[in-house]
Amino acid sequence: MSTLLHVDSSVRALSNANPDHNSISKNIALRFIETWKQHRPKDEYIYRDVGVNPPDFITQDWIGAVFTPDEKRTSGQNEILALSDKLIDEVSAADVIVISSPMYNYGMPAQLKAWFDQIVRINKTFDFDLSRGDFPVQPILSGKTLITVTSCGEFGFEKGGVREGSGHLAPHLRALSKILGADTMYEIASEYQEFGDARHRMSVASAKDRAECLASELSISTRDSSLKSEGVGSDLGITP
Ligand SMILES: Cc1cc2nc3c(=O)[nH]c(=O)nc-3n(C[C@H](O)[C@H](O)[C@H](O)COP(=O)(O)O)c2cc1C
Repeated sequence: MSTLLHVDSSVRALSNANPDHNSISKNIALRFIETWKQHRPKDEYIYRDVGVNPPDFITQDWIGAVFTPDEKRTSGQNEILALSDKLIDEVSAADVIVISSPMYNYGMPAQLKAWFDQIVRINKTFDFDLSRGDFPVQPILSGKTLITVTSCGEFGFEKGGVREGSGHLAPHLRALSKILGADTMYEIASEYQEFGDARHRMSVASAKDRAECLASELSISTRDSSLKSEGVGSDLGITP
């Protein structure tokens, strides 16, 4: 049995009275999840909708608690870190992580950033050692597969695209994938939502197809708890 962690982050719902208002990123991610569950109904499944239920922002007291050794923490500090502990436990337990995200103002939603801020934590998900020279930060987790699903209104944020350099969503997710312990990463992207034209329809359809194909492929190639030791190949070649 493997564990699948699914994090959605659009503030829009999956399904609305007016379907034009449905979250595209959530619907594409759902295609992946439903396909996965068909192949692997016994897997553990953890779901968070941080768009609708955002994690707290971190605070000065949160940082103080993080940098206080475990045995010296007050009960108040343990309480401040309870959500972070829970979210990190969910990431640690996961073999496969699916994160869906809209592009808001050229980056990720503040709600998803708040989730990452709770998870990126010294001695829990990364350690820091100046003896490593210019790269003192090293991820602690490893062996996970990450699938990101993004949706944007414009297009051409990729390398060589007409908006190259303006899109910070995919590069930010790639950088943070390392802290999540992902050494295999796949990206599914939908574009053109603001144009509402044939390009948009094709983009969504092809993203949904890709989500379904990838879920079938990965769910079949994933033997019970095997991802951590074997990996399943990557189309980005990202290694922490
Ligand atoms: C607050 C807000 C900011 C947005 N900013 C951008 C942007 O900077 N670039 C872009 O291409 N699309 C932008 N969009 C369009 C969304 O990325 C697009 O509607 C996407 O489909 C939203 O994801 P969802 O359908 O999963 O909710 C923005 C939309 C909203 C609501």
